[in-house]
Amino acid sequence: MDRWEFEENPPGYNTGLMNYRELEDTRPREDAICKDVGASINAEVGFRPDGARVYVKDVDDLENDTVQSHIAADIYNDHIPFLTPEIAYDEVYGKILVEEMPGEFSDDYGEMDQRSLHGAIAQKLLLGDCDYAGNFLATGNQVVPIDHDMTGRDLVTTKKAVNTWLEDGPDEDLLYREATKLAEQIDIRALEQDLRDERNLMNSWSSREEIRDPEPRDGLFHGSIENIIDNVRAFK
Ligand SMILES: Nc1ncnc2c1ncn2[C@@H]1O[C@H](COP(=O)(O)OP(=O)(O)OP(=O)(O)O)[C@@H](O)[C@H]1O
Ligand SMILES: [Mg+2]
Repeated sequence: MDRWEFEENPPGYNTGLMNYRELEDTRPREDAICKDVGASINAEVGFRPDGARVYVKDVDDLENDTVQSHIAADIYNDHIPFLTPEIAYDEVYGKILVEEMPGEFSDDYGEMDQRSLHGAIAQKLLLGDCDYAGNFLATGNQVVPIDHDMTGRDLVTTKKAVNTWLEDGPDEDLLYREATKLAEQIDIRALEQDLRDERNLMNSWSSREEIRDPEPRDGLFHGSIENIIDNVRAFK
């Protein structure tokens, strides 16, 4: 493996807080999703100076604006009272860094604690995050959402993604309760301010218009910040 030369404060996002070292190539991944897709875009694991494991996405392999999508998710995560991963972006090496979360990947959602699962779905719903399949880690009664490739969609689009992904659909009452509980704990004005002030979210928007189909994997677009704010407000 190449040796990585890290600057003291590399350009990017949160790199001062979360730099990493000693990348480990975990290819090939053995899980089902990886096999379906035929390749993994998340095949390296690095280490933070404190020893925490950091999942690494190579941006070169990704669609436009996946970086902005993750940065918006990180800002949103700072405004919610749940366990969430620290996220950074290394501009020099083109890598999105995501702190490891506890729990195991499972696609048996019926086995998970339903309140926690619906809380985790609500977390993605308010963020306008359409990337649900295989993107929850569960341990005991705690479910943590990961993988924020596609955020900032409106509620209609995001809800459609939830329904597509959950075979029998979510428990609507439970999801509504969890989403309302979450929205009540978010300071909308502070969240909006932080999203609007973030240098990385000001430029380089996707030129694509919003597509009301949860499948295309583009990142943020004009209107994404408004969507996130509107999604939260809808449950206040
Ligand atoms: N923060 C994290 N903590 C623990 N495990 C993680 C984390 N991020 C990723 N992983 C592991 O790596 C796998 C792939 O990560 P992720 O879903 O972010 O990448 P992806 O390639 O976009 O996946 P896909 O396109 O298959 O949804 C996860 O299913 C999980 O097993
Ligand atoms: Mg994933």
